Amino acid sequence: MSLRFQVPQDKVPTIGQRSFLQVNDQFLALFNINEKLYAINDSCPHQGASLFGGKLEGQTIQCCAHGLKFDLATGCLNNSTHFKVKTYPIERVDDQIFIVMD
Ligand code: FES
Repeated sequence: MSLRFQVPQDKVPTIGQRSFLQVNDQFLALFNINEKLYAINDSCPHQGASLFGGKLEGQTIQCCAHGLKFDLATGCLNNSTHFKVKTYPIERVDDQIFIVMD
């Protein structure tokens, strides 16, 4: 069963910004890159460091801990499809933003 989490308006990032969200017991990072929103689990799949404060290059986030880079659209580690951070679909209904959780 999926859960749709409505992102509060003050947590919807503007272009080039990011926001940190807690949904139940999960921590998420939400990015706005050129008006497209990307939601990921805030835990790096390597050793669990937060990805929220990572360095952005286009739609790639680099983990601060050991430097691994993940594509925000797919969650995949660069050059790999086997190691990935969890991503969540985004839905827009009028001016409201929802994150679709598992
Ligand atoms: S914890 Fe993210 S690269 Fe090691």
